[in-house]
Amino acid sequence: MPCQWPIFAENQHMSPSDFIPGGPPEVLPESGTLSWQAPSNIALVKYWGKKQGQLPMNPSVSFTLDACATRTEVRYKKVGGASAPPSFEIAFEGRPAPHFRKKIDVFFERILPYQPFLSGYAFEIDTENTFPHSSGIASSASGMAALALCLMDLEHALYPGLDPQYVARKASFLARLGSGSASRSTGGSLVHWGAHGSVPGSSDLFGIDFPLELDPVFRTFQDTILLVDKGQKQVSSTAGHGLMQDHPYAKARFGQGRNRIDGLIPIFREGDLQAFVAMVESEALTLHAMMMTSQPYYILMKPATLQIILRIWEFRRTEGAPVCFTLDAGANVHVLYPASSREKVVPFIADALLPFCEDGQQISDQVGAGPVRLKGD
Ligand code: DP6
Repeated sequence: MPCQWPIFAENQHMSPSDFIPGGPPEVLPESGTLSWQAPSNIALVKYWGKKQGQLPMNPSVSFTLDACATRTEVRYKKVGGASAPPSFEIAFEGRPAPHFRKKIDVFFERILPYQPFLSGYAFEIDTENTFPHSSGIASSASGMAALALCLMDLEHALYPGLDPQYVARKASFLARLGSGSASRSTGGSLVHWGAHGSVPGSSDLFGIDFPLELDPVFRTFQDTILLVDKGQKQVSSTAGHGLMQDHPYAKARFGQGRNRIDGLIPIFREGDLQAFVAMVESEALTLHAMMMTSQPYYILMKPATLQIILRIWEFRRTEGAPVCFTLDAGANVHVLYPASSREKVVPFIADALLPFCEDGQQISDQVGAGPVRLKGD
């Protein structure tokens, strides 16, 4: 008997157990190939601090990027019975990548209760990024999202009657178990993650396409990523999240994150770029303020990060263009501006900001449309 899958109403509260299959699949394929490209994302309201089970302390929202993405191919083969845990080999840009092993081991362990049919399979995972490996750009969001989308395709093949909304939510749910921000890399151009009373359908368990009115200007946003420091970060994001646990400002910060989502709703609706700029920059500086006031404290910005920020402020003051910066957990600067300001901003970046980048490197990106299936059988 094929198991029955619930179709969830828009606002229905979901729990992790809703993502456990109702019964074993009728047929398990012997082998196959799955492949997805998933985008990176840049948070406007930041996820910084989490609870047990990879759940966020406050909701976050991000632009999905277009050019920065991970492409992953997963080949699977049935090699054992239902009691054998899934096994895998991982290659990055065509070479064995043992340094990814631990993260993917943990990922499989976390998702197995929700995809028990993975047992008995051996996986060969081939992954590559569209952006330079040594750019200092984290690939965990796009990487975990691409892998989750592949495994969700396998689930969809085993349970063909799945509701498309359930498939979308579960892809994000699985990605989240790999890396929190990955839950925002399985959807469209603006993705919200985290339960919030003003955002219908929102949940701590998965990201959703921002469901409220969005002025079209936000779909045109450009993100020029200035590569200030291409080295390995001295404190990982996961460790940084951990330091929010006993952080003296944690409670205020989590409340602020929630309030900022409320603040963004009218900004998004009305296309209020002045308010957008103020909110996005304050959010970036708050993230780094949390790092600087953690115990132990640390600084991920470099002198060049500050030089760039000061020049953006000066440019905005003199030119009045709606250009702003945001930062993730590193020294690189994301310069955000609507496409209509490109003519003014692009030369400014080239003349005034690029000299501060390592080897004068930048990545020109923009708001993208979400992940793409590359292959599947
Ligand atoms: C600063 O998602 O990388 O980019 O859940 O531990 O994998 P883990 O952390 P991660 O944290 C991202 C933090 C951030 C802000 C954001 O993307 O919201």
